[in-house]
Amino acid sequence: MKKINIAIDGYSACGKSSTAKMIANRLQYKYIDSGAMYRAVTLYFIDNYVDLTNEKKVDKALKNIQIDFRFNSKKEKSETYLNGLNVEEDIRTMRVTNMVSEVSALPEVRKVLVDLQQKLGKKKGVVMDGRDIGSIVLPDAELKVFMTADMKVRALRRQQELLEKDQLVDLNDIIDNLAKRDRIDTTRKVGPLTKVDEAVEIDTTHMTLEEQVEEILNEATSRMVDNKQKI
Ligand code: CDP
Ligand code: CDP
Repeated sequence: MKKINIAIDGYSACGKSSTAKMIANRLQYKYIDSGAMYRAVTLYFIDNYVDLTNEKKVDKALKNIQIDFRFNSKKEKSETYLNGLNVEEDIRTMRVTNMVSEVSALPEVRKVLVDLQQKLGKKKGVVMDGRDIGSIVLPDAELKVFMTADMKVRALRRQQELLEKDQLVDLNDIIDNLAKRDRIDTTRKVGPLTKVDEAVEIDTTHMTLEEQVEEILNEATSRMVDNKQKI
């Protein structure tokens, strides 16, 4: 069976990253969390008071940013590093979540991160999740998935996840944040979140994680068979 690339796009808290990680695990593929990169840039911009309206300052700041992922064997997961520091927890806090879509809408930021993501996805055998993976980052991906879910369900999932990290956040604040990010992510000029024609749409509202994984694995398997073998 040939190796393929899998692109998973969609709204926040539909289950993209949890599903993508499990699929990468099952297929022994590499998982790449593109959202973590946008979050790391946002953290740097917040901590260094970068003025988002000043293109020159944004460009200069981007030159000072180095992002990489390192595997934590104790936790059995890959973690995000910003300029050599582990920022895996910091990038998931609300102060970053509240700013990330504004930073992600900047064309200069997208250019730098898309280049990096394309380098990481050059060799087949990658599962990458985000907003523009099927459309811009990996347009040749053999499987493209577009995930959706009801807003209330998404917000409850995110609230539960934050609670598990000892962060108590009001449900309405989460809904406001998700709705705001949906709006900015779908309407920005460069790399907006969009469902490409060839993407398989999965509504996860009433699904379990395991069901999502199985459905995507089935789609993936059918694309791993060479066309010659199919005939
Ligand atoms: O996990 P969650 O769905 O909340 O978000 P994420 O995947 O970590 O992405 C955080 C934000 O980064 C999104 O709301 C987008 O603004 C931005 N993002 C993007 O613009 N393009 C991507 N490929 C991935 C994330
Ligand atoms: O990456 P994205 O923001 O789309 O979602 P996620 O971070 O993978 O999922 C958000 C939360 O929803 C996680 O805690 C998942 O375990 C949970 N969840 C899910 O993804 N799918 C379900 N069917 C049920 C819960």
